[in-house]
Amino acid sequence: MRDLFDRILENKGPLGKWASQAEGYFVFPKLEGPISNRMKFKGKEVITWSVNDYLGLANLPEIRKADAEAAAEYGSAYPMGARMMSGQTDLHEQLEDELATFVGKEKSYLLNYGYQGIMSVIDALLDRKDVVVYDSECHACIIDALRMHLGKRYVFPHNDIENCEKQLQRATKLAEETGGGILLITEGVFGMTGDQGKLKEIVALKNKFDFRLLVDDAHGFGTMGTTGAGTGEEQGVQNQIDLYFSTFAKSMASIGAFIAGDADVILFLRYNMRSQMFAKSLQMQLVKGALKRLEMLRTRPDIKDKLWENVNALQNGLKENGFDIGNTQSCVTPVYLEGSIPEAMALVRDLRENYGIFCSIVVYPVIPKGLILLRLIPTASHNLEDVRITLDAFSSIREKLNNGTYKRLSEGVAAST
Ligand SMILES: Cc1ncc(COP(=O)(O)O)c(C=O)c1O
Repeated sequence: MRDLFDRILENKGPLGKWASQAEGYFVFPKLEGPISNRMKFKGKEVITWSVNDYLGLANLPEIRKADAEAAAEYGSAYPMGARMMSGQTDLHEQLEDELATFVGKEKSYLLNYGYQGIMSVIDALLDRKDVVVYDSECHACIIDALRMHLGKRYVFPHNDIENCEKQLQRATKLAEETGGGILLITEGVFGMTGDQGKLKEIVALKNKFDFRLLVDDAHGFGTMGTTGAGTGEEQGVQNQIDLYFSTFAKSMASIGAFIAGDADVILFLRYNMRSQMFAKSLQMQLVKGALKRLEMLRTRPDIKDKLWENVNALQNGLKENGFDIGNTQSCVTPVYLEGSIPEAMALVRDLRENYGIFCSIVVYPVIPKGLILLRLIPTASHNLEDVRITLDAFSSIREKLNNGTYKRLSEGVAAST
């Protein structure tokens, strides 16, 4: 037998092993100042392209005021206890009604966090006889939920509808044997690559197979569709999504989440979702803050228009300059470059230190070896000058990547350590 801590200290995990080189810079960086298009990193102003505050609500005066007033009125404790016990209020119910109306569903229910909330939704829906079919690039919270599932699950390669159909055939065969049902899970917008889930095609499969569809629309809520009701609205199939989920952590610039669907299904979830039955109710500050944010989503379409003006300027500019931005169909803007991990590190350092551009970087094993993914999140708080500076910077770093500057720089660092 060995000490548990010996093992974890020896093998720190795929990301943890980089901690000593990356901590505070590539991982756990500290962005300071009010959330906006320009923030401070290590004391210097940077154009911030890595915050999911799509609509720029985080720091709008109306929002800050609503948050402050709610905090002054309620403090951060009220209400105490789980919703079921002593944490129920009229405002929680009002927010749920307004959210349901906004996304075109009968009812919705609040979740304290998206991650644990959707895990609990999936856990409550399924029993061991049920079969799950899901997209291979679903978010970690969905994968974790499926780890708890005692029945069978079939994965289809990302957005591969032909294969999805095959998995539905297998799932149908099995569910007929077990007497269970089928849940298909995908996302509205995939947060890493920006492509949309093929909701229309998946919904069409309902003509051939019996299944229920759960969509995680964390990145689509507030950004996609004519009214901002999400990717289902964008693709004209919102009414075919059986359960619609979104977090407040992106367009709503807050904490919390919700699940929406038919009234009887939401009633079942209210009485069976362990993460909500056995956890404190969402605090009032957040509920009132969410009501205000939702009001902005409904009444200020100009904010979404501004977001898309920035998205289009950035994405078109990148494409015109010959950058590969993959297959994005949303605000999420990936830029794919070729290079090693040390080159990627030197490049990101250069972008931050010398060009004042802060964006997230993704490398192997999250994406294939030899690729560097720089992920940019345009928001309504950016402007065309931010886009122009960024496009110039990107052209310049690409030239340095191609002429070996980052290779030499990274070799220099390796040699001196
Ligand atoms: C697709 C997706 N689902 C769920 C979550 C989790 O939401 P939360 O941050 O509210 O826990 C995230 C990240 O925020 C996400 O990107």
